[in-house]
Amino acid sequence: MAETAAARQPRIELRAINKYFGGGETRVDALVDIALTVMGGERVGLLGPSVCGKSTLLNVIGCVT
Ligand SMILES: Nc1ncnc2c1ncn2[C@@H]1O[C@H](COP(=O)(O)OP(=O)(O)O)[C@@H](O)[C@H]1O
Ligand SMILES: [Mg+2]
Repeated sequence: MAETAAARQPRIELRAINKYFGGGETRVDALVDIALTVMGGERVGLLGPSVCGKSTLLNVIGCVT
């Protein structure tokens, strides 16, 4: 199937994403300098061990703070 123009466009594009919770000695750096590009038509899985930041990243993508 021919690649469409829409499939060549980034649908999700993250650059230099950082997210932390708390502060001081209890600060947790959940996302450190994250970059991600998902192109139209791509199917992406987010894999990693528990508490590595998967849910935090999905919340950022969904604009949930
Ligand atoms: N609302 C929150 N308040 C404080 N710390 C959080 C919060 N959400 C996530 N964290 C911390 O951020 C880190 C990543 O968590 P999370 O994104 O839930 O990981 P995963 O989904 O990969 O298991 C963990 O150390 C977790 O304790
Ligand atoms: Mg999770």
